[in-house]
Amino acid sequence: MSKTLIIGASGQIGQMVTKTLAETDEAVRTLVRDKSKLNHIKSSGLDIVEADLENDFSQAFEGVDTVIFVAGSGVSTGADKTLLVDLWAAKKAVDYSKQANVKHFIMLSSIGADDPDAIASDIKPYLVAKHMADQYLMVSGVPFTIVRPGPLTNDEGQGKITIRRPDNLEEMSIPRSDVAKSTLFILTRDDLNGKIFELFGGTYDVDTVLVY
Ligand SMILES: NC(=O)c1ccc[n+]([C@@H]2O[C@H](COP(=O)([O-])OP(=O)(O)OC[C@H]3O[C@@H](n4cnc5c(N)ncnc54)[C@H](OP(=O)(O)O)[C@@H]3O)[C@@H](O)[C@H]2O)c1
Repeated sequence: MSKTLIIGASGQIGQMVTKTLAETDEAVRTLVRDKSKLNHIKSSGLDIVEADLENDFSQAFEGVDTVIFVAGSGVSTGADKTLLVDLWAAKKAVDYSKQANVKHFIMLSSIGADDPDAIASDIKPYLVAKHMADQYLMVSGVPFTIVRPGPLTNDEGQGKITIRRPDNLEEMSIPRSDVAKSTLFILTRDDLNGKIFELFGGTYDVDTVLVY
């Protein structure tokens, strides 16, 4: 049976992905700093590795076929954590994946990571970190899909998205649950290897637009 490793499983999107996968027969391993954050997810098959992404976390990759990287340093930390988590931990996750012969690495990146110079923004260091992590994955030889959502909201998911970048920033947001749903769909599709998707709230069904 194939096994999926979710890195950042205690985060907001990470918990949504973990809860849905844990309710299936899929073999799931989660990497978290504090396993009590997953106490509410009841699943006998849930395999939890406690580790800090700033340290060695290679032990989490043993026997893993697919990796979902949904970790992030968050808005309340400084540029040091952006560098250590969004860039360096993502880079290490790609290296460990290569060593473990992972078949599919799904990276949760960000809108703007394609070209951090494109707009003047306070979050440019974060976009540079995401850009470099994405680039590293793309040339690593590890099969990948990169997801670059617009600003995340906690609005109720509609299951409706678009992958075409809207003209206005106000139209670029997307509920976290729709990003989780899109990530879970990508997980089921080998033919989305090598694809890079920008994701925004929209009017198309996830399973239609991502294979269009
Ligand atoms: N906010 C936005 O508008 C936006 C837009 C586009 C993309 N994104 C990206 O989307 C992703 C997920 O978003 P989200 O809202 O679900 O994030 P979140 O709730 O902040 O979750 C971040 C996760 O990363 C984990 N993490 C951070 N540092 C760690 C470390 N040193 N060791 C182990 N785990 C660590 C956190 O663990 P703890 O629970 O232990 O803290 C948590 O599980 C992030 O990569 C973010 O950059 C965000």
